[in-house]
Amino acid sequence: MADHQRARIEFDPRFTVADVPERLFGSFVEHLGRCVYTGIYEPDHASANEDGLRQDVLDLIRELGPTMIRYPGGNFVSGYRWEDGVGPKEDRPRRLDLAWGVTETNQFGLGEFMKFCRTVGVEPNMAVNLGTRGLQEALDLLEYANHPGGTYWSDLRRSHGDEEPYGIKLWCLGNEMDGPWQIGQRTATEYGRIADQVARSMRMIDDKLDLVACGSSSRGMPQFGAWEAEVLTQSYESVDYISAHAYYQPEGGDFASFMASAQDMELFIDGVIATADAVGAKLKSDKKINISFDEWNVWYQHAWHEAEHAKWVEAPRQLEDVYSAMDAVVFGSLLITLLRRCDRVTAACLAQLVNVIAPIMTEPGGPAWRQTTFFPFAEASKFGRGKVLRVNADAPAFHTERFGDVAALHSVAVANEDGSITVFAVNRNLEHPLTLEIDAASLPTFSDLTCSTLTDEDPNAKNTLENPTRVAPKANEDITVKDGVIAIELPAMSWNTIRIA
Ligand code: AHR
Repeated sequence: MADHQRARIEFDPRFTVADVPERLFGSFVEHLGRCVYTGIYEPDHASANEDGLRQDVLDLIRELGPTMIRYPGGNFVSGYRWEDGVGPKEDRPRRLDLAWGVTETNQFGLGEFMKFCRTVGVEPNMAVNLGTRGLQEALDLLEYANHPGGTYWSDLRRSHGDEEPYGIKLWCLGNEMDGPWQIGQRTATEYGRIADQVARSMRMIDDKLDLVACGSSSRGMPQFGAWEAEVLTQSYESVDYISAHAYYQPEGGDFASFMASAQDMELFIDGVIATADAVGAKLKSDKKINISFDEWNVWYQHAWHEAEHAKWVEAPRQLEDVYSAMDAVVFGSLLITLLRRCDRVTAACLAQLVNVIAPIMTEPGGPAWRQTTFFPFAEASKFGRGKVLRVNADAPAFHTERFGDVAALHSVAVANEDGSITVFAVNRNLEHPLTLEIDAASLPTFSDLTCSTLTDEDPNAKNTLENPTRVAPKANEDITVKDGVIAIELPAMSWNTIRIA
C-alpha cells in the first residue's frame, strides 16, 4: 500500500491574479498530416455538411471548447502562398509542401477556414508567411481578408462569395523564424526588422490588429533570451505579443521529470516576461508585451524524427500521437500553468486540434473520438472562466532528476462568473495518492460540491479506434466536509476538476 500524503490550499475570492483571457483556450489547425484533410474537412464523409466539414468532428470541437484557432501553420506557413487556397477549387494548384515533405492540394484555404471558424464559433488567428515571402504578400492577404471592398484584393474576396470582410484581428508574423528547420530561417536582427516593418504596414490597412512576433522556437534553443531581446528591441512598439512554443515528452524513461514538465513551462514564461520587460524598461516604454503561448502540448517528437516518411503524398498520417492517461495528467498540469500565469500569458494555442498531436482523432470515412487529453482541455475551457485566484499551497514534494524536488500538488482556483469556484488540481506523484484539503473558511456558502477525476491504474492506458472510451474522467465520491475544510482524495497521477457551487 502506497504512503498516503496530505496537501492543503487556501484562497479568497477577493484576491485575484487576473481575468481569464478569452484567447487562453485557443487551438491550432495546420496544413499538416490529416489535421485539415480527413480531419476537419472531408467532403465525402457521411457526416459532412455542405461546406465539406465533418459534423461528427464539429460536434467534438464544440464539446472541447476552443475559443480561437491558429491557421495555417506552423512550419507550413513559411512556404505557403495564400492565393493558392482561394477561388474556384478546380483552379487551385497542387504544390510541394517543403515543411512536411507532402503534396498540398489547396482544396481547403482561407475562405473554408473562415467558414469553419464561424461554424464552431471561434476567433481566427492567422499567420503570414515571412519565410519565402514578406511585406507585400502579408499586406495583400490582409487587404483580401479585412478590407470591405473597392480594391483589387478585397473585390477578389467578394468575387469568391465573401461579401463581408473577415475582420481577422489576431495575426502571427511568421512562425519559429529562428529554427534551422524553418523555410527562410532568419537571424534575430533580420527577423526583428521584418516583423517591425510588416506590423507597422499592416496597421496602416487596419488599426485594430493584435500582432504576435515570433519568440524562439523553444526554451531549449541556444539563442533563447537573446532572440527575444533583439526581436523586441526592433519591434517593441509595433507588436502586442511575443510567442512561446513548448512540447514535452518523457526523456529516457524519466517519468517523474515528465510529470513535472510544467516546471519548465513556468521557467519559460518567467524568462520571456523578464526579457520583454527588460527591453520595455530600456526603451522607457509604458507598454507591456504579453505572451502568446501559441504552441503547447505533449508531443513524442523523437518518434517522429526517428521514423521514415513517404515523400510528396497527400495528407498522410503524420504526428498521430496516441495519448495515455499519464500524458493527459501532464497536459492538465500545463493548462494549470497557463491559467496561473494568465496575467501575462494572454493567448495560447493547444497544438493541434485534430489528428496531429491532437485531442480529437478521426478515421477517413470512419468515426471520430476523444483522446485522453481531450478531457482536461474541455473541463478547463468550460469551468476555467472568470478570475484566477491567488492560491496559497502547502504540499509534499517528490524528487525529479530534472527539476529537483517538486510539489506533488499543482493547482489553480478560478472564481467563475456565476459565483461558483473551480479548482483544477493535479497530483503529479506517480505513486502516492494525496488528500487535498481546501480551507473553506473564506468561501461563500456552497451546496454543491463535486470532483471529476481522470486517472488510470495503467498509466499507459489510451483511447483508440478499437476502444475509444477506455479513459475518461469519473465522478470522485471521496469528498468530505468537516470543520470548514473540504477534503478530497486525489489518486496518484490524476487530473481533478473540483466544483464548489
Ligand atoms: O505543431 C507541429 C510543429 O511544431 C509546427 O508546425 C511548428 O511550428 C512546431 O515546430
